[in-house]
Amino acid sequence: MSVSIKPLKIAGIGYCVPSTVITNEDLTKLYDTSDEWIYTRTGIKERRVVSGNETAIDLGFEAAQKALKKSGFRPEDIDCIISASSAPPQLYPTMACTMQDKLGIPGNVPAFDITAACTGLIYALQIARGFIGAGIYKTILIIASDNNSKITDWEDRATSILFGDGAGAMVVTESKDGVDDILSINVSANGSIGQLIYTDMPGQNCPLVTQADKVGDGKIHMNGKDVYKFAVTTVPRYVEECIESAGMKAQDVDYLIPHQANQRIIEAIQSRLKYSDEKVISNIKYYGNTSAASIPIALVEGVEQGRIRLDSTAILCGFGAGMTWGAAVVRLREGIC
Ligand code: UT7
Repeated sequence: MSVSIKPLKIAGIGYCVPSTVITNEDLTKLYDTSDEWIYTRTGIKERRVVSGNETAIDLGFEAAQKALKKSGFRPEDIDCIISASSAPPQLYPTMACTMQDKLGIPGNVPAFDITAACTGLIYALQIARGFIGAGIYKTILIIASDNNSKITDWEDRATSILFGDGAGAMVVTESKDGVDDILSINVSANGSIGQLIYTDMPGQNCPLVTQADKVGDGKIHMNGKDVYKFAVTTVPRYVEECIESAGMKAQDVDYLIPHQANQRIIEAIQSRLKYSDEKVISNIKYYGNTSAASIPIALVEGVEQGRIRLDSTAILCGFGAGMTWGAAVVRLREGIC
């Protein structure tokens, strides 16, 4: 049975990165590593990190303001807020609730966080699509913001080289012209390989119990090799299937804007799609892996730098802890960023 759903318009996108830059050379002060090792293995030269009392809230706030401005919607037009983060500064109040207050969005609309790690933006877009498609909400603000640097184990050279902080935001709304900006979208997960990347919450048992559990350290732990293998075997095929379900061929899509996890993973997807370098947006060199924020940062920066022409189409894809993954073929209208 085919269900007809209301079309969605991507109305505005924004991003924000903190100003503090940490280069590969800087990391050599923390442990035995080199710019050459990090760059050849990952494509990363530097990353941005929050400093002092700056958090994912501040980054998300600025990204959201930019997305709202581009969209032409006012805070009072937003009727749902979804925040995606794997490193929110507080578990609750959720980032979405805090953002509602800071942005002046009316206090009578739903606001909630989702955790789908680096796939958070695609998951949030899928949820927003369901809400808008069913006519439940009309205009949704998605904020993807992470300050990974606060949960990174800065003594672990195999993980701390990868991550950076940043935020992206998207305003999506019911499309008034009948054109759907989501040509296809799909998300997935496989919890049976969940321990490939994990962060155990700190905490302790009730002091009255006889047996205490071990205390989590609240830091990112990762089996990098197996995450790499998972990404290069699962994601390129998934991306190709997503393009097929849009009724398109890879060459019909103008750009690949992937999650920025590792340049070699990006190249594996590029090679599967047989894309030239001009079609592939990568800025991992300057930001590292900013989790859920990496796709919107790459998208908007790509437009700012003239590498992405709007009035075009793009395949977005994300993957990360869970393990989760997802992809969407989207229409990028003029003026969205
Ligand atoms: O959103 C998803 C997030 N995660 C990912 O995308 C991670 C995907 N995986 C990767 O990007 C790669 O696995 C890494 C870049 C993290 C690591 O590369 P690798 O080729 O898998 O290295 P490895 O962990 O197997 O380590 C190889 C060697 C080891 O030395 P030995 O045991 O062979 O003597 C490590 O101790 O490299 C050593 N090593 C380092 N050396 C210099 C590990 N980290 C470093 C480092 N600098 N930073």
